Amino acid sequence: MDTSLATRLAARDLAVIWHPCTQMHDHETLPMLPIASAEGVWLTGHDGKRYLDAVSSWWTCLLGHRHPRIVAALKDQLDKLDHVMLAGFTHEPAIELAEELVRIAPKPMSPPPLAGKGEGGGTATNHRSQTDDHVLRRVFYADNGSSAVEVALKLSFHYWKNVGRAERTRFIALTGSYHGETLGALSVTDVALYRNTYAPLLLDPIFAPSPDAYASEPGESAADCARRRLGELRAILARHAHETCAIIVEPLVQCAGGMRMYDAGYLTGLRALCDEFDVHLIADEIAVGFGRTGTLFACEQGRIAPDFLCLSKGLTGGTLPLSAVLTTQEVYAAFYAEYAAGKAFLHSHSYTGNPIACRAALATLSVLREEPVLERNRMLAVHLAAKLAPLADHPHVADVRQTGLIAAVELVRDKATRDPFPAAERRGLRVYQHGLERGVVLRPLGNVVYFMPPFCITPDEIDFMVEVAIEGIDRAVG
Ligand SMILES: Cc1ncc(COP(=O)(O)O)c(C=O)c1O
Repeated sequence: MDTSLATRLAARDLAVIWHPCTQMHDHETLPMLPIASAEGVWLTGHDGKRYLDAVSSWWTCLLGHRHPRIVAALKDQLDKLDHVMLAGFTHEPAIELAEELVRIAPKPMSPPPLAGKGEGGGTATNHRSQTDDHVLRRVFYADNGSSAVEVALKLSFHYWKNVGRAERTRFIALTGSYHGETLGALSVTDVALYRNTYAPLLLDPIFAPSPDAYASEPGESAADCARRRLGELRAILARHAHETCAIIVEPLVQCAGGMRMYDAGYLTGLRALCDEFDVHLIADEIAVGFGRTGTLFACEQGRIAPDFLCLSKGLTGGTLPLSAVLTTQEVYAAFYAEYAAGKAFLHSHSYTGNPIACRAALATLSVLREEPVLERNRMLAVHLAAKLAPLADHPHVADVRQTGLIAAVELVRDKATRDPFPAAERRGLRVYQHGLERGVVLRPLGNVVYFMPPFCITPDEIDFMVEVAIEGIDRAVG
């Protein structure tokens, strides 16, 4: 341990680095924390202090830091092939990963018995839902989440152009959604903090009301709220389907928008509406994929497959940037023609399908396949829920919600009216600061304190994480 090294590194950092999603001025009072090593759920600073990574380093570190199987795969791959461009060349890791992703991708399933009763719930009439059109058979690689979203948006738009429907130029997204920071991804994002400044540069999507259960009417269940929102979406589609390429959603949990959660029936009904109005469905599982919500993919809980599935973050177990967009043979076929037809998807990123990243992803998927990770997650989710339950009675907590291993606590100024704390008071920042003092990385989203720990967390570590969060909440609202 070397406290002076930590201090020197922090000073050198602040002299040259401009950090992401940060008002650098904050670091006049907030410490910059140089991290020397990591293992499992723990990050260790150069001063020897340990921090429980309760947010999986921006939701990337799926299985825990430096998972031995991923580390071994990376070392092995480095001895063989570092990188080769994926245009004109290929390699085993990219091929094997694409085969595996296609194998495990959510499959279209018949709706559950009751889902046909609601608005858009399994009432599909379009022939596309009756065929295998929604089977995801093709993988297009990119190298981070936002670029995967760009690929999906461009592919959908370009598909409609290639099939002679060039009038389709718009997208529908949900209020409160977050899909990334590049201009296309930011266009379909509805988080004012990130979007408003750049609004003049962005596309003009249509925002449909989110099925967010926190915003449900008094006495309305999450399922009822989802049905009501599907009704509103139907009305939007009736007006705009002719000019719409796709609807993009974060299945089950709108993460960066405040961990807003909704009923899986919305996904079932959404799929049916997309079929009925012949609009693509883009599922952005960048944050929720790979077991986070209790199933391997969140779409499975709505028993649906999208036309485009965006994956990244946990894909490589949090070791290297990589993303993938899965789509159907029908979409692929619309681009397949003689070069002169001008139908090709001429989109690329230099590190698309990097072999080392693909090997990390293969190792991650093999752990998910061969070890009882999802079963253990379900046990951990029950434990986490039990630890958080007392917070429901807290005078400044309006909601404690959870989907799998994502849990969130909504802090409010007034519990009865749900009046939020003004954003300028930065209550969440106080929770963050308290967490760091006690050795837990909590990074609230405004007034929402949330937990998205690596899957290797133990029940004792959950207890510590929640205990520190509750202390932080008490300090922050006092
Ligand atoms: C749902 C979702 N989509 C897209 C992104 C963007 O991914 P990246 O930060 O890798 O660009 C994120 C990042 O948080 C996300 O949560």
